[in-house]
Amino acid sequence: MAMVCLSDFEAYAKKYLPKIAWDFFAAGADDCNTRDENILAYKRIHFRPRMLRDVSMMDIRTKLLGTEISFPVGIAPTGFHQLAWPDGEKSTARAARAMNTCYIASTYSTCMLEEIAAAAPGGLHWFQLYIHRNRVVSQHLVQRAEALGFQGLVLTADLPYTGKRRDDIRNGFRLPPHMKLKNLEGAFEVCKRSLLDPSVTWNDIYWLRSLTHLPIIIKGILTKEDAELAVRHGVQGIIVSNHGGRQLDGGPATIDALVEVVEAVQGRVEVYLDGGIRKGSDVLKALALGAKCVFIGRPALWGLAYK
Ligand code: FNR
Repeated sequence: MAMVCLSDFEAYAKKYLPKIAWDFFAAGADDCNTRDENILAYKRIHFRPRMLRDVSMMDIRTKLLGTEISFPVGIAPTGFHQLAWPDGEKSTARAARAMNTCYIASTYSTCMLEEIAAAAPGGLHWFQLYIHRNRVVSQHLVQRAEALGFQGLVLTADLPYTGKRRDDIRNGFRLPPHMKLKNLEGAFEVCKRSLLDPSVTWNDIYWLRSLTHLPIIIKGILTKEDAELAVRHGVQGIIVSNHGGRQLDGGPATIDALVEVVEAVQGRVEVYLDGGIRKGSDVLKALALGAKCVFIGRPALWGLAYK
């Protein structure tokens, strides 16, 4: 079958992935309203198309914090890529480099940061951080990423606790024993409570700043108030995101939140968006509303599942 749009890859992944992996990738929090809104909201936005503009030459390159990428779509951080394909994040890094775009590797990768960097030398990689209660673990991760040539540090702000994803609970989801959170191996003793630190606040941006020279991009911002705080705390970029609707159900679609963030920021830092991007026209809508670039989460996993 010819694969002509991302929905075709979605259908393929749904058909061929084990149900437990498919459900984990697809999951949203609670009723999944926000997850579904991310996609529906694009259908309510219409273009005002203008005519007779010379479009014989098209250039869709852009820059992320000064580094050129060949088109304004990067790969958002998602965990557990080996659930989709045995080479996991190494394959994702190779694919992103082949397309000359940015890959944000998750704290919850099933390959080591060293393997990811080595799989695609010269590729544009950012590292996504969840801050752990044991701050030394987080500090080491940041410093490892910087030493390996990752060029940005993405702090995810919307996961003080994990959202309630009903299918994962029903399925008793956990990583198969042969897959590991490779970057956290050996870092923790067996511990019943969440390892993530729910006490993180804006002040921790200063702590991160003291650890690294990397630009800091904050992911998970949805309001003008938080956008202003992000700028005031000296971040270099904002990703308007609701974690693909996997965290707080009932928040806005990201494309709807983008406008107030862009207005608040007034060009002082770069603004990106993820959530529900499935077509070129979705990318265009986000760019027209002020995003510098967008990122895709689940579609990259479907691509991995398709080899
Ligand atoms: C995520 N997301 C995510 N975000 C993050 O900062 N760190 C992570 O480890 C993960 N893990 C993760 C796993 C899976 C299976 C999904 C679907 C999502 C959120 C991700 O970065 C992004 O915000 C959304 O996926 C964007 O929405 P779409 O493109 O999936 O609609």
